[in-house]
Amino acid sequence: MEESEDLRKKYLQLKQEINYHNYRYHVLDDPEISDEAFDKLLIELRKIEEMHPEWITPDSPTQRAGSTVSEKFEKVTHPVQVLSLANAFNKQDVINWLDRTEKMDPRIKYADFVLEPKIDGLTVVLTYQNGLLIRGATRGDGIIGEDVTPNIRTIKSVPLAIPVSEKSIKVPETIVVRGEVFILESDFEKINAELAKRGEKTWVNPRNTAAGSLRQLNPEITAQRPLRIFTYQILFSSSDQPIPDTQWGTLEYLQQLGFPVSPDSRYCENREQMLNHLDEWQEIRNRLDYEIDGVVIKINDLRIAGSLGFVGKDPRGAIALKFPAREATTKLLDIGVNVGRTGVITPYAILSPVEIGGVVVKQATLHNFDFIRDRDIRIGDIVMIKRAGDVIPYVIGPLTEKRDGTQVPYVMPDRCPSCGQPLEHLENEVAVYCVNNACPAQLVRNVEHFASREAMDINGLGIKIVEQIVQNGLIKDVGDLYSLKKEDLLSLEGFGDKKAENLITAIENSKKQPLSRLINALGIRGVGEVMAITLAEHFPSLDQLKNATADDLMQIEGIGPNVAQAILDWFSRDTNQMVLKKLQNAGVWPVNMEAAESDKAPQVLAGKTIVVTGTLSHFTRDEIKDFILKHGGKPTESVSNKTSFVIVGENPGSKRDKAIELGIPLYTEQMFLDMVGIEKNDQRTID
Ligand code: IVH
Repeated sequence: MEESEDLRKKYLQLKQEINYHNYRYHVLDDPEISDEAFDKLLIELRKIEEMHPEWITPDSPTQRAGSTVSEKFEKVTHPVQVLSLANAFNKQDVINWLDRTEKMDPRIKYADFVLEPKIDGLTVVLTYQNGLLIRGATRGDGIIGEDVTPNIRTIKSVPLAIPVSEKSIKVPETIVVRGEVFILESDFEKINAELAKRGEKTWVNPRNTAAGSLRQLNPEITAQRPLRIFTYQILFSSSDQPIPDTQWGTLEYLQQLGFPVSPDSRYCENREQMLNHLDEWQEIRNRLDYEIDGVVIKINDLRIAGSLGFVGKDPRGAIALKFPAREATTKLLDIGVNVGRTGVITPYAILSPVEIGGVVVKQATLHNFDFIRDRDIRIGDIVMIKRAGDVIPYVIGPLTEKRDGTQVPYVMPDRCPSCGQPLEHLENEVAVYCVNNACPAQLVRNVEHFASREAMDINGLGIKIVEQIVQNGLIKDVGDLYSLKKEDLLSLEGFGDKKAENLITAIENSKKQPLSRLINALGIRGVGEVMAITLAEHFPSLDQLKNATADDLMQIEGIGPNVAQAILDWFSRDTNQMVLKKLQNAGVWPVNMEAAESDKAPQVLAGKTIVVTGTLSHFTRDEIKDFILKHGGKPTESVSNKTSFVIVGENPGSKRDKAIELGIPLYTEQMFLDMVGIEKNDQRTID
């Protein structure tokens, strides 16, 4: 009996402890113990509950995700009406609201205020009886909502019992708290990336995801969604305990009970401070990880606010300053495609013009063709568009419920819209390419890149001029730039003597650009400015680079199989070989003297395929590979009949046995150095 009493004491203590740590983790975001320690406590609790199932109460942390799947949600009547808010759309609307209320109650002239983020989520109403969560409901029409208690219980930051930590606070017998359930944008992106990876349908936006999750009949599904809550109002409390009579005090009180409140709310001493502070909210909005659609301005004194009454469903004591929407819906008129420099074909939406946040949007990105297919976007659909911050407007997805049967599924082009050549879909890549180097659209982008500041830096050869030159058929590839004559340019609109001469001079001057710039200018997929510099360090000129094998390339740090393959592909194409010839003939063939110097090392290993096994004393693995390459040899990983010899270091592996088996000569490190004709201390040569 006594033992059982001790156990019961322990059980109650454990339960409280776990709820407290849950609160530290999910509400304060400041855990005191490790995940493992937390799990241990839970396991201990479960063990006791197995022995004494009669002790289990609904506030036990093991009872969050119940598995009762409902048929439908029961209706519940809220204890008081769950009010809405009137909207203001600019500062003047806010000033007008202040003036109006001041006329009703002169004290408002001296009132203080609270500014709160208007969270773009779903209102929920939480009822606690004797400190226990007994119900969670949706707002519904403000009078009757739906009972979604099992789903609410799965939200880890919703306390199952209050107060969570401050034991000195006495909680009213009944207290009804209002909050907003939402999903962090970062969590939302994570879920979507996961879904996309699994090839499943992705979600439209955080708000819809939160709404859908809350209205799940199976709470196990809700439990898997990263729902969060911020609370901001006490809708009702029984009169046995006093509750704060200010909004700021309410937020503090809710926090003390263990409810999450937004850390971004602000107290303002007076009207001026409040009005000034409003200007900062655009910026606050940009840095928040949760979506807000406005800022709520509340008169801090809840008695004054309450005495003002309400108009319809809107209390007079608060107002929402709404931000310009970042999303809008409009009709997808058509889908166009762009051809990029590397031949990537990207689709974009042609829209019925729609205003989003003060800007008229007519086009938006559609990311890629998989996106259109995955989201089942059809021409004629009403689509949701988003435009936030500096981001290019993009299509979120179609509103399928708005379809009327006139929508047409999109058929992806199989030919390049510019040159008509068949498009290629590379394995493991989302992108679709036009691989025709002579494609005019690509040529324009290619030349633009070739001439750009980071590449050959040809002054005066911007996109407009490039388009003119290409459209007039003056060049077929970047190599032709160097045979352009002043007279050719004079035939173009807007070209006078001076302008033509300047451009010819700029093109001529670009011949002096270093090899790294030329490599970058070629526009090889995956080879940007930095990679070009690396390549130029390893290859003295394009002669060596074009003869490099995939193995040679992959010896270089930072070059993986994809880039190596892209380089090989580029050099293997006939059209590109033609470009190289033209460049070489024109004298655009820079040599990297430094690389050339080191390339002068005696090519004593030419034609030799060499394998290394075991640890060497003069070289690391990378150094020996570089050394072999520098001396004309070919380092490889595995022993075969093609292997010329194997260098055997300390603790050799099975490669040595394989060599013996195949009768391939074995060299010690010293024998190898002797063969190359290098003193082993000759660091200069080895380095
Ligand atoms: S106060 C009487 N505060 O916005 C108090 N509402 O358009 C009325 N909302 O239905 C609500 N964040 O769902 C208030 N900090 C916040 C809010 C907030 C979001 C929602 C709420 C309400 C809607 C009004």
